[in-house]
Amino acid sequence: MQLASKRILLIIGGGIAAYKSLFLIRRLRDQGAEVRCILTSGGAQFVTPLSVSALSEQPVYQDLFSLTEEAEMGHIRLSREADLIVVAPATANLMARMASGLADDLATTCLLASSAPILLAPAMNGYMWAHPATQENRQRLAARGLGFVGPEAGDLACGEVATGRMAEPEEILAAIVAKLNPSAGPLAGKKILVTAGPTREALDPVRYVSNHSSGKQGFAIASALTALGAQVTLVAGPVSLPTPQGVKRLDVESADDMLAACLTALPVDAAICAAAVADWKADIPPNKMKKTGDGLPVIAWQQNPDILATICQQTNRPALVVGFAAETENVVEYAQAKRQRKGCDWILANDVSAERGVFGGDSNQVHLIDQDGVETWPQLDKTAVAQRLAERIARKLVQQ
Ligand code: PMT
Repeated sequence: MQLASKRILLIIGGGIAAYKSLFLIRRLRDQGAEVRCILTSGGAQFVTPLSVSALSEQPVYQDLFSLTEEAEMGHIRLSREADLIVVAPATANLMARMASGLADDLATTCLLASSAPILLAPAMNGYMWAHPATQENRQRLAARGLGFVGPEAGDLACGEVATGRMAEPEEILAAIVAKLNPSAGPLAGKKILVTAGPTREALDPVRYVSNHSSGKQGFAIASALTALGAQVTLVAGPVSLPTPQGVKRLDVESADDMLAACLTALPVDAAICAAAVADWKADIPPNKMKKTGDGLPVIAWQQNPDILATICQQTNRPALVVGFAAETENVVEYAQAKRQRKGCDWILANDVSAERGVFGGDSNQVHLIDQDGVETWPQLDKTAVAQRLAERIARKLVQQ
């Protein structure tokens, strides 16, 4: 009974995958959860209120303006009493309305009126899922801390083979359990340090140099590790991303600040260095540099500390240290050398040439390099890279 006394509000959207949500209701109830359901008008085209009500043994809520439903259970109470809201299937339309903050039916109103964690199981045609509009919406929702399970690649109801299938009920159940009960996850009790974003190195009291790292990859890793139960400290350079739920965040500016923050977070079981740390810092003059005639300013550079290498050299070195290698040529070869030089266990090499759009973009293609060799992963959404990495880390730490 992994969900005893938990209240789940399940929103069933309008897609053929709605039938899987009937199985999900049963699995949730097997685990002791109380399941209340909202059936959207689209959802009701695929499954009947009677089936939903019979399986949940609860009334089904469909109408924002129903006097009967409102008298039985006001929509605010419906959303407030939930420990978790699950949207399955989450259609492209529902995701777009959620991303825009619309409240034009019972489902979107409850979603907007709740502070409960939200988990989405998207399901739609592959082109709809891949469309930039849907991907932007997914990104916006993920940045607000909403969780996703799936979609998966495979045969779709429309006859195409693509990514868009709703995750299976068992998988959604596992994601719900992990979301509600992180201490049941495989990384429960493990402390993990993650660095993310750029550093900013002052040139004088008003100017700085930095890079284009958005922090997306590191934040996604922090979020995925937390979902598996880890206690995550995220040391973040200057980025404009919300803190993932359950993560302890330390904001820093320069490489020196980042190193100091990382050292205060030790000891940890694992450290993942995804930050794009500036290699050099400038000798900072006390006053703003002035434009003088035709002369260019002379900046004296110094080497910044190497945070990844320093963590690896600590007497209380984490059992697993993972770095990233941002390369624009000889990607794997240079990353292998970097892994040796810095002393980390794994390094994820990514090609950050401008045309790849990795810095600041939503997807990444990495090669995981360890002492045994190189494993090339496909081009994936950064959240999917993070999930895959988090699962690998969990397997590694559990083995030890
Ligand atoms: O933030 P996003 O927009 O999502 O982009 C993600 C990313 C491209 C920033 C990320 O995937 C990535 O590649 N991060 C590492 C960037 C980098 O600084 O790579 P590097 O090859 O210069 O450094 C190698 C490793 O040493 C990295 O783990 C880095 O964190 C670390 N390092 C580097 C320099 C330094 N002074 N201290 C360090 O710890």
